[in-house]
Amino acid sequence: MADMLVHLKDLPSVDEEERALRKDGFIIRNIQPWERFLLEKFAAQHFSQNWADEVMMAFSHQPVTCWIATWASPRAIVGMAAYECTRRNFFGPMGVREDVRGMGIGKVLLIRGLEGLRSLGYEYAIIGGVGPVSFYEKLVGASIIPGSDPGIYTDLLPRVGQETEEAENESSPEDE
Ligand SMILES: CC(C)(COP(=O)(O)OP(=O)(O)OC[C@H]1O[C@@H](n2cnc3c(N)ncnc32)[C@H](O)[C@@H]1OP(=O)(O)O)[C@@H](O)C(=O)NCCC(=O)NCCS
Repeated sequence: MADMLVHLKDLPSVDEEERALRKDGFIIRNIQPWERFLLEKFAAQHFSQNWADEVMMAFSHQPVTCWIATWASPRAIVGMAAYECTRRNFFGPMGVREDVRGMGIGKVLLIRGLEGLRSLGYEYAIIGGVGPVSFYEKLVGASIIPGSDPGIYTDLLPRVGQETEEAENESSPEDE
């Protein structure tokens, strides 16, 4: 997976979009320290334990370097955009719950997260190990960094519970 570079100078305003979402019951705001466990659970349930681990790094900064989207009824986290987690000046992980995608939540979260990086003094930001390239190209003019693939997500260890399965599938030198 490649990384993308974003110039933070002229980020579009998403104030209108944020207001419209609020009218529909979605609030975009910074996560609070007492919501740490809820965020971890959200990330693990809707994305992966790796993302849950990464996003927890946001709580090592003050203010916490993560924005969330909440839904009014039932009250819950439905999106997240973290930064300064996996590496310095990295944006992500970010994700929106599947059933509320396509409503503009991802766009607002993206801009708020990038504004957060800009407020730390960065002129450019890196979107690490990018998935939806055209989403970032379209919304913030991000471009793929030449030579950045495979990036930092290499030599991944199996998660707890996956080791046995992996070991069973592996052939040992004695099998040959
Ligand atoms: C990518 C993601 C965060 C987008 O969230 P979202 O709330 O659905 O996005 P929005 O509704 O704000 O979309 C904003 C714009 O981006 C476009 N867009 C949304 N997802 C896109 C995608 N995967 N690829 C390309 N464009 C996309 C929308 O069409 C919309 O365009 P418009 O403004 O012209 O209508 C969401 O699909 C997601 O969580 N995906 C899984 C996790 C993921 O891939 N995260 C990124 C890791 S690098």
